[in-house]
Amino acid sequence: MTVEPRPTAPRPAADRAPERIAESVIGWVDSIAALTTPDDIVWCDGSTREWDELTRLMLARGTVTQLNPEHRPHSFLARSDPNDVARVEDRTFICSERQVDAGPTNNWADPSAMRPTLRRVFAGSMRGRTMYVVPFSMGPLGSPLARLGVQVTDSPYVVTSMAIMTRMGSTALDLIGDDTPWVPAVHSVGAPLGPGDTDVPWPCSDTKYICHFPETLEIWSYGSAYGGNALLAKKAFALRIASVMGRREGWLAEHMLILKVTNPRGRVFHVAAAFPSACGKTNLAMLKPTIPGWTVETIGDDIAWLHPGDDGTLRAINPEAGFFGVAPGTGASTNQTAVDTLWGNTIFTNVALRDDGDVWWEGLTDTPPAHLVDWQGNDWTPASTTPAAHPNSRFTVAAHQCPSIADDWDDPNGVVIDAIIFGGRRATNVPLVVEARDWQHGVFLGATISSEKTAAAEGTVGELRRDPFAMLPFCGYNMADYWAHWLEVGERLGQGGGAPRMFQVNWFRKDADGSFVWPGFGENSRVLEWILDRVDDRLEAVDSAVGLMPARADLNTDGLGDDGGRLGDLEWDALFDVDTASWLAEVAATEEFFDTFDGRVPAALRAQLSELRERLL
Ligand code: OXD
Ligand code: MN
Repeated sequence: MTVEPRPTAPRPAADRAPERIAESVIGWVDSIAALTTPDDIVWCDGSTREWDELTRLMLARGTVTQLNPEHRPHSFLARSDPNDVARVEDRTFICSERQVDAGPTNNWADPSAMRPTLRRVFAGSMRGRTMYVVPFSMGPLGSPLARLGVQVTDSPYVVTSMAIMTRMGSTALDLIGDDTPWVPAVHSVGAPLGPGDTDVPWPCSDTKYICHFPETLEIWSYGSAYGGNALLAKKAFALRIASVMGRREGWLAEHMLILKVTNPRGRVFHVAAAFPSACGKTNLAMLKPTIPGWTVETIGDDIAWLHPGDDGTLRAINPEAGFFGVAPGTGASTNQTAVDTLWGNTIFTNVALRDDGDVWWEGLTDTPPAHLVDWQGNDWTPASTTPAAHPNSRFTVAAHQCPSIADDWDDPNGVVIDAIIFGGRRATNVPLVVEARDWQHGVFLGATISSEKTAAAEGTVGELRRDPFAMLPFCGYNMADYWAHWLEVGERLGQGGGAPRMFQVNWFRKDADGSFVWPGFGENSRVLEWILDRVDDRLEAVDSAVGLMPARADLNTDGLGDDGGRLGDLEWDALFDVDTASWLAEVAATEEFFDTFDGRVPAALRAQLSELRERLL
C-alpha cells in the first residue's frame, strides 16, 4: 500500500493527551516524539473500540488476516517477516554502568556508547507512522505487588498484543500520579516511511537492539516487532528490569509458572515452577491430572513475581494478563486445555492457514489437512519438506479465557507459594523428583538447572546448556549476585515454617535404548502428589546424595508398568539411579561453571557443591 505523505510535524503530546496525565509521562512522550518524529500520537485507552480500529487497520495493511468467525471468532493470523521470528539474544543488551553488574551470562554494552547509538537509530525512526502510547500495569490494577509501565510503539500489532498480555489503557494511566514510579519502554520497528514510500505488512529492520538500562530502569527496543523483542512488558520488563527492581526492593521476578492444586482432602496449595524454554511449561501450567481426586488450576504460564510477606510467606502474582504460547506441539493429546482456550479472541502469529479459514500447526491434530497455506504464505501439503507453522509460531490470548484459570489468579494480594519446582531437560543424572534439604540446597538446585544439547547443530550432543533458574536470557544483573539475592530472601523468610519447600524435577530421563522412561504430561500429577504430600507432612523421604527422594511405595505409579501394574525395578532405577561417576563429572562441570563468575558465587553455593561431592564419595 502507498502511504500518502503527511508533512505536518507531530503536535506535542501534551496538546492531545487525555486530562490529568502525570507530567513525567507527558514530558517523556514529548521527548520520544521529538526524537522519533512520528506523524501522529495516539494515547491508547484499552477499549474494545480501539481494538476494533487497530485490527481493521492491520487488515487493511495486510499485517493480519481475519480467521473464519465460524471456526475462530474475533481472531487473526499475523505473518511476520521471515527474518523476524524469535527473540534475538545476541542483540539483547544489559547496559549497566559497570560490566561486572551485567555478569558473564549477559551481553553487556557500555551505556555511554549505547545511548548515542540508540539516539542515532531512533532519530526519525517513526516518520510516516503513528506513535501509540501504551500505559500498562504488570499485575492486578492497584495491587501493592503490581508495577506500572508505559510503552511507546509504532506497531499496531504490538499494541493489540499488549492489550491481551497486560492490563492496558486508561485504567493503568490513571494510576500514574506525579510521584508514581513507572518504567519507560521505547519501541520502534525501525522502518520510517518517506513521502510516497510503500509500506510492507510486517515492517522491521535488519538492525536490532533490545536494550535495558538497570540503573535508570529503562527499556529501548529497535528493529523487531516479534514477541519478547517488542512486547516489552514481558521478558524485558517483567523479568530483566523487574529482577533489578526486585533486588533493590527485596523481592524476586522469576521465569516461573504458577499453579493452584487441590488435593483429595480439599487442601489447596500454590506451586511456582521454573523451566527453561521447550520443557513443556505451558503443558504443566494447564495440566489435567490423571490421578483421582486432584484438581490443578492455572494462575500463570510464564512469569511469577514473588514477594516475601511480613508473615514469613512468599506471595506470588502473575504479572501478565495473557498467554503468548508456542503453538506447535499444542494439541488434544498434549494440552487440550490450551486448545480450548484458543476458541476465539486470539492473535495467532506464523501458524498455517487452513482452506476453511481456520488455523493449523504441527501437533494440533495427528493428521495434517491435505492443503494449507504455510506461515510464509506458500501452498503446503503433507508432502512438503518444510514445517507448515514456524517452530516458534505463537498464540496470544487472554488468561481469563483459559478453562482451567483459578478464581484467585488475579488476587491483588497474590497467593501464598507452598512449593517451588526447578525443572530441566536431562536424559541422565537428574532424578524424576528430589526435594531440597533446605533453602540453600534449593537455591543450589535452581542455580544448576541445565539441559543436554540435543542436536549436533547446537554443539556437542550431551553437552550441558546451563540455564540457572531458567533465567539465563532474562536476568537483568549478574547471575551470581542474583543467587546471593535468593539466599537473602530465604534468610528473610526465616525458619517460621512459612517459606515454600523446594524441589527439582526431570520428566526427560531416558533408558539404555534412548526412550523416555516417564510418560509425562497429565501423569506428572503423580509427581505433584508426592511433592504436595511432602509439604503436607504426610510422607517420609529417602535420603540420597543429590536430595530427598520418594520411597518406592510413596510415588503412585499404579498402571504405569508394562504389565499394567506399578513401574518395574528397571524403570524405577532408570528414573532415580544416582550414578557416582557421572555425578562426580557433573560436580566438576558445575565447578567450572561457577568459576566463570570471577569469585562472585556465594560461599553458601560453593559449600553446597563441596557437600554434594562429599556425599557422592
Ligand atoms: C518464552 C520463552 O517465549 O521462555 O516464554 O522463551
Ligand atoms: Mn518464557
